[in-house]
Amino acid sequence: MRLFNYLLVLLPAALANQLNARSTTACNNSPDLCNKSYGEITHLGAHDSPFVRTSDSVLAGDQYYDTPTQLSAGVRLLSAQVHKDNNEWRLCHTSCTLLDAGLLSDWLAKIKSWLDEHPNEVVTLLLVNSDSASASELGTVFNSANISTYAYDPPSLTIAPSSWPTLQTLINSGKRLVVFATPLTPSTDYPYLMSEFDFMWENNYDVTSPSNFTCEPDRPSSLSGSISTALSSDRLPMMNHFLYSTDLELIDIEYPNASYVSTTNAPSGGTGNLGSTAAKCKAAYGGRQPTFILVDFFDKGPALDTVDSLNNVTNAVGRTSVSSSSTSSSGGSTINNVFKGLVEMASSAKSGASTSMGDWVWAGGNWNSILGGGISF
Ligand SMILES: *[C@@H]1O[C@H](CO)[C@@H](O)[C@H](O)[C@H]1NC(C)=O
Ligand SMILES: *[C@@H]1O[C@H](CO)[C@@H](O)[C@H](O)[C@H]1NC(C)=O
Ligand SMILES: *[C@@H]1O[C@H](CO)[C@@H](O)[C@H](O)[C@H]1NC(C)=O
Ligand SMILES: *[C@@H]1O[C@H](CO)[C@@H](O)[C@H](O)[C@H]1NC(C)=O
Ligand SMILES: *[C@@H]1O[C@H](CO)[C@@H](O)[C@H](O)[C@H]1NC(C)=O
Repeated sequence: MRLFNYLLVLLPAALANQLNARSTTACNNSPDLCNKSYGEITHLGAHDSPFVRTSDSVLAGDQYYDTPTQLSAGVRLLSAQVHKDNNEWRLCHTSCTLLDAGLLSDWLAKIKSWLDEHPNEVVTLLLVNSDSASASELGTVFNSANISTYAYDPPSLTIAPSSWPTLQTLINSGKRLVVFATPLTPSTDYPYLMSEFDFMWENNYDVTSPSNFTCEPDRPSSLSGSISTALSSDRLPMMNHFLYSTDLELIDIEYPNASYVSTTNAPSGGTGNLGSTAAKCKAAYGGRQPTFILVDFFDKGPALDTVDSLNNVTNAVGRTSVSSSSTSSSGGSTINNVFKGLVEMASSAKSGASTSMGDWVWAGGNWNSILGGGISF
């Protein structure tokens, strides 16, 4: 009887504590986002998240900080390229001889640890499945990293839902990792692996002039050019917003433009800034904000300012900001001298030196074919 009374007194207090804790807990860095649908908010994406520019000579790098640092700073979408090399699934940029950021399983394990340590955060992965891994091959790697336990299963593997769960619902269910890959043949054996373009559409990503960012759908091709069709398809809008340098276009290579990124990622001011472009796209989409904004060098701008503004977040909490002035040495990418050689070859060709036919076949022919014409890092 005494014990029973004791419990009666304690239980409501414990419940109240729990409710208080919940109402003040932030989801994706803000208490205001907990009750928002996953698809209605804007998630900041790190383009080519694992490919870190550890020094200025690493032209193929798209970020200055590694994946866990990106996540802790507020990035919530991570994109990467998956390649098959020596029968392993690795994160390589265009080719494993060019930039190899290690095993997919190791990267996933790092993300899993981060999710373990940050129980109120919802993270999205977008994998460019360069060598067309099957759902079973990818799922095996997800299992080996023990990250599939966090992966969200959509209600249908072929049709985008008209509304997505709220962040709080995803968090409460423990399914806080949303995974897209392209190309991908979905499999009910791995129901969390979603084929990107069944669930998402994107604007053009291959932009080389700050005045040429557009809002129109580019991929999937079935939606190309038609905003109204794209919106009514229920797919989530993804806004690519990164700029390529073209001074190696002689050999058909584009690489991230770092010199202009403080404008490209800025909330306002300057041609092609992120804030104005996002506002323009939101207006073009009838007030619907892009679900994802994908940028290079996410810390510059800072790109998060635009995302917070779209999300009406003024009270972001729990972020570890990075110093925006220096480059990180914490990246795990291994850059082969091959790329340096390529850049040197291009420079010498530009200055009039002749290069061997073999060099050109290798650079212009073989590499070109990897992406079916033109290389964009
Ligand atoms: C959360 O969303 C539901 C459904 O839209 C709404 O009824 C409820 O009032 C919201 N709660 C808060 C705290 O905003
Ligand atoms: C896998 O992850 C789950 C959920 O985080 C955890 O409970 C379990 O102990 C992990 N298993 C291994 C083998 O690490
Ligand atoms: C920018 O867009 C215009 C109009 O579509 C096009 O003519 C031009 O070639 C583009 N510039 C670059 C650098 O892509
Ligand atoms: C980056 O873009 C800016 C703006 O178009 C341009 O002035 C600059 O030359 C570009 N940098 C490189 C390295 O291509
Ligand atoms: C932010 O506020 C605008 C204007 O009221 C609204 O259209 C938009 O849906 C809000 N976004 C979020 C994620 O709350």
